[in-house]
Amino acid sequence: MALLSGLTPVLLALLCLVVGFLLLRSQETSKTTSRKDSKDKERPWVDQDLQDDSETTTAGGGGEDDDWADPAEEEDLAHVPYAPPRYSEESMLQRSTDFYRLMNQRRSVRFLSPEPVPRDVIDRVIHTAGTAPSGAHTEPWTFVVVSDPETKHRIRLIVEEEEEVNYRQRMGDKWVQDLARLRTNWIKEYLDVAPYLILIFKQTYGILPNGKKKTHYYNEISVSISCGILLAALQNVGLVTVTSTPLNCGPQLRLLLNRPANEKLLMLLPVGYPAADATVPDLKRKKVEDIMVHV
Ligand SMILES: Cc1cc2nc3c(=O)[nH]c(=O)nc-3n(C[C@H](O)[C@H](O)[C@H](O)COP(=O)(O)O)c2cc1C
Repeated sequence: MALLSGLTPVLLALLCLVVGFLLLRSQETSKTTSRKDSKDKERPWVDQDLQDDSETTTAGGGGEDDDWADPAEEEDLAHVPYAPPRYSEESMLQRSTDFYRLMNQRRSVRFLSPEPVPRDVIDRVIHTAGTAPSGAHTEPWTFVVVSDPETKHRIRLIVEEEEEVNYRQRMGDKWVQDLARLRTNWIKEYLDVAPYLILIFKQTYGILPNGKKKTHYYNEISVSISCGILLAALQNVGLVTVTSTPLNCGPQLRLLLNRPANEKLLMLLPVGYPAADATVPDLKRKKVEDIMVHV
């Protein structure tokens, strides 16, 4: 008992220290959470799921505020009349049916012909992709068109090396099994064969002529819409591609193609005519009733 009463002040002191330490820890955690919450509130366009990097590269999200352009300094914008063509109901139905038929023929083709494709067509198709809407009209896309055989081959080596690791280690059994029926693997012959490789980079922020940075809101969504338009434009001229998102290849391909650090690879599209003996998996698409809800 005497020993216990002798120890009590020591125990009390220890208890106070532990309680004090726990209190400090919980205050730190709540400060971090509220800092994160207020950071998120400052940049509501950053979708956590997309991980589009703009959280670390936007005004208020890191770096000096002086590096960022002040939108108040931008010139006022004129608003002009807009009157696109208007069609009769019958014509609308016909056009929507025709466009559906055209797009329903689109398939991801992994066997391409080396036959040359007119360069002007590629330029026009990319011009069309650049008509996409973008967050605050930031147009955060760069389309790198590769036709040089040596560069295409270096791209192939990078992609195949990473894809082999992806298939063997990173993707996991379930993903690999899901892909088995599509008969895809890490061998990407089309990267040598296709007359053009189009690598689409999202600009996570812009750089103005005065060197200041400009926030690119929703850059990943904007560039993805632009890629959708690019796919439609390719389909419209009878060219084929396979949408590919080579996992873990972005940094190496960015360096190979001399793209700046604000650009991140989003997609890689080999483009050309289909090979004469090209095949595609016999996939079926969902019915319109299964993808649409009217309220
Ligand atoms: C975001 C995205 C990523 C894709 N990545 C790959 C890929 O890395 N390699 C590949 O062979 N196909 C890839 N595909 C193609 C899909 O496998 C293909 O679109 C799907 O099987 C449906 O076939 P379809 O395009 O012929 O309709 C990708 C498609 C999308 C939309």
